[in-house]
Amino acid sequence: MEHLYHCWRRSPLDLGIQSACRWQPQTCHTPARRRAPLPLTAALLACERRGQSPAGDGWRPPFAPRPIRFAYEPGDVSHMPTRTSFSPFRTEIAGIPVAELAQRYGTPTYVYDSAQIAERIDDLKAFDVVRYAQKACSNIAILDFCRRRGVLVDAVSYGEMRRAMAAGYTPAGNPPPIIFTADIFDREALDFVVEQGIHVNCGSPDMIAQLGQRAPGREITLRINPGFGHGHSQKTNTGGEQSKHGIWREQLADCLYQADHHGLSVTGLHMHIGSGTDLEHLAQVVGAMEEAAAELGRSLRSISVGGGLPIPYREGDDYVDLAAYYDLWNAARARLASAVGHELHLEIEPGRYLVAESGYLVTEIRAIKQMGKNTFYLVDAGFNNLARPILYGAYHPMSIVSTRGSGERPLQDVVVGGPLCESGDIFTQEEGGYVATRALPAAEVGDLLVIEKAGAYGSVMGSNYNSKPLAPEVLIADGKSHLIRARQSFDDLIRGESIPQID
Ligand SMILES: Cc1ncc(COP(=O)(O)O)c(C=O)c1O
Repeated sequence: MEHLYHCWRRSPLDLGIQSACRWQPQTCHTPARRRAPLPLTAALLACERRGQSPAGDGWRPPFAPRPIRFAYEPGDVSHMPTRTSFSPFRTEIAGIPVAELAQRYGTPTYVYDSAQIAERIDDLKAFDVVRYAQKACSNIAILDFCRRRGVLVDAVSYGEMRRAMAAGYTPAGNPPPIIFTADIFDREALDFVVEQGIHVNCGSPDMIAQLGQRAPGREITLRINPGFGHGHSQKTNTGGEQSKHGIWREQLADCLYQADHHGLSVTGLHMHIGSGTDLEHLAQVVGAMEEAAAELGRSLRSISVGGGLPIPYREGDDYVDLAAYYDLWNAARARLASAVGHELHLEIEPGRYLVAESGYLVTEIRAIKQMGKNTFYLVDAGFNNLARPILYGAYHPMSIVSTRGSGERPLQDVVVGGPLCESGDIFTQEEGGYVATRALPAAEVGDLLVIEKAGAYGSVMGSNYNSKPLAPEVLIADGKSHLIRARQSFDDLIRGESIPQID
């Protein structure tokens, strides 16, 4: 069956360096995951070197372009492997046998390797501020780990602001340790940002008015929807007309007037076009940011490029060229700084990039069934533990840990499912719910199955569906494992419920 997917394609009419930077929305007939990853072209970098913007032909630099000095050669990420390969056999996580972890903490359990988080943080140190989008994995031990490495934090709810503070972040400072980013204030969140002096990134004109009425005199950031977006799924695309996120770019002038009217000073601009996007789309944001900055003018002190950095989930996927990405933004920052006449902070706001690869969901195979031609491995974790496959058809690498003897076993095509009373409780599915198979080693009931690269949007999206408890979380640091969230008990499950006295 053929499905229509929206994608961005270079226009066939575009020729030459500047026009090579223009991309047009089109409908194509190829599922996104089968399209070859687009390289961050030399043309994009050439645009930057010439002081041109990836925004395209219609774009004119708001300020006179300056020569750009590269901090290092684009593409110099020699410490990072360019291609990933996965083994379907696994014995340990961060030096600890998986069987030992399963025995100690039970299954299903999330295990995080802190060394991988530390490495990913280091990858981004060229940016002035790395602000962790904690929605990806908000356990307070992970937040504390990031905080101690100089990472600041983004919060999207009252609960996330409280988590940041529970992990040791102070509410206010310069640059703001915590930023509240949202499209609405619920009453609890508004009270809290007002009381605590937490910096707000406003995603709607109403937020500006509501904050202005309560806390005139504040500095704020505006989240701008540049009119386009992109994500690994349409559900994670946060830009364009179909997205509820951000202030529509054409309303920026009205919002600046409104902020001024309420005595709020707009010091930051922020754009986040989607989660799990690619560098080609992320690079288009540069031009949009420069246009917005031109409208804002001298009060601008920081620009946030948002998150969205992809990670390799599939065999052969590339790591992103971070140096090239940084260079694009650093060049834009330099142009803007010279136009406004003062330094500008350059922030990046990754979620997935920092934590996805550190996380492993350790499960036990509890049944193996043959259904016609399909072999099912049924494990004790379901979409109550990891929702990405059912939500987005997301692909996670998987591996088998044999609990009986070593030795490699032959691979066979299997479907991997969970225990929930829902036919969609399948970890090997494609977008649209189509069941797929995966080549995994022959296994027996009692073997462990590890769902890998599950650190981002994994545990945080867990639910109690079918009255299943939330899984524990374990952090490995320096060869030792630490329980950072206990498995929920039955009492936890029914806490707050009550039976009224009725006949
Ligand atoms: C405002 C904002 N910033 C950052 C992120 C983090 O995105 P990612 O995990 O793709 O880096 C998100 C997630 O969609 C977001 O909505």
